[in-house]
Amino acid sequence: MFTKLTIKDVKVRNQNVLVRVDYNVPMENGRITDDLRIKASIPTIEYLIKKGARRVILISHLGRPEGKKVKELSLRPVAERLKELLPDAKVGFIDDVSGPDVEEAVEKTPVGGVLLLENLRFFPGEEKNSSEFAREIAECTRADLFVQDGFAVIHRAHASTDAITKELPSVAGFLVEKEVSALDKVATSPAHPFLIVIGGAKVDDKQPLIDKLSPLADDIFVGGKIAADGYTSDNPKIHVCDTFKEDGEGGKRDIGEPCIEALIKLAEGAKTVLWNGTLGETEKPEFAKGSEKFAEFLGTHPKITSVICGGDTAGFAENFLKTHPDCSFSLISTGGGASLELLSGLDLPGLDSLDDA
Ligand code: 3PG
Repeated sequence: MFTKLTIKDVKVRNQNVLVRVDYNVPMENGRITDDLRIKASIPTIEYLIKKGARRVILISHLGRPEGKKVKELSLRPVAERLKELLPDAKVGFIDDVSGPDVEEAVEKTPVGGVLLLENLRFFPGEEKNSSEFAREIAECTRADLFVQDGFAVIHRAHASTDAITKELPSVAGFLVEKEVSALDKVATSPAHPFLIVIGGAKVDDKQPLIDKLSPLADDIFVGGKIAADGYTSDNPKIHVCDTFKEDGEGGKRDIGEPCIEALIKLAEGAKTVLWNGTLGETEKPEFAKGSEKFAEFLGTHPKITSVICGGDTAGFAENFLKTHPDCSFSLISTGGGASLELLSGLDLPGLDSLDDA
């Protein structure tokens, strides 16, 4: 159950609404290569405009510039993409987060308009969770209400996820509500049989999730580099892949055919599947077969609740859907660390700090 107030519970009309989004999107030479997180923010922005918000002011980070201005990490290209995704709204960008220029830009934003501020992490106060920094943003933007809709950043205690909530009434947006509710259901009361599929490379990141959810899971399949590197477990529920597709030098790069079949057999009986981590090196087509075959199975079995999370896995699933329009998944999470930490039962300061329902 979602226990925080959401934008549906509060007055929006005539309010200046400050929305924390997560536009930490992959870029190459100033070009956005995956806009999943930008698209995922649109329902909340559109709702606020439709409900008569005076202005929607968006704040986000991009990358890890460590308190310094880094030209390549400006959010300006994101504002351009937003203009395409919100063709009926006036979308502006200002290359700062507080001060007279921001005040003026807010003032000039027309009623119902959208203004994106510059990368929060250009300023040390953001990661220091500085109250002063949060207050400056709230004051300069003349915000009446704070909305947290950056699901992917709710595991951080930063000024824009924590300190800001001490300055303004603070509620969740639709993306945070949707992802927290779906992942929480999987982590507490999934429909059984419940299969967890773990892949990827970083065993230290995944072990807390395995530890937390193994009592609840009926089966756990481990593939990817973790299995290739020799993961072992005494738990009879845990099936570690033991055949691999190799490269010319004997490197284990993808799960092998017998393991793909075994995994699909496990998934055939499942009602809930949680998938975190690709099963092979999906960036190389010759080692993407295991993940593709499994995605195809999941995507064509709509009765299975399929929840996909983790940065690489979500990116893979998004790309997979572009070439498989007949497939669908219940949820592709926009969060990497945030989804892992939620599923592992860790604190989420950016969620805890919101007003209770
Ligand atoms: C993410 O990409 O997982 C989020 O945007 C958080 O980014 P961070 O790990 O740099 O805090």
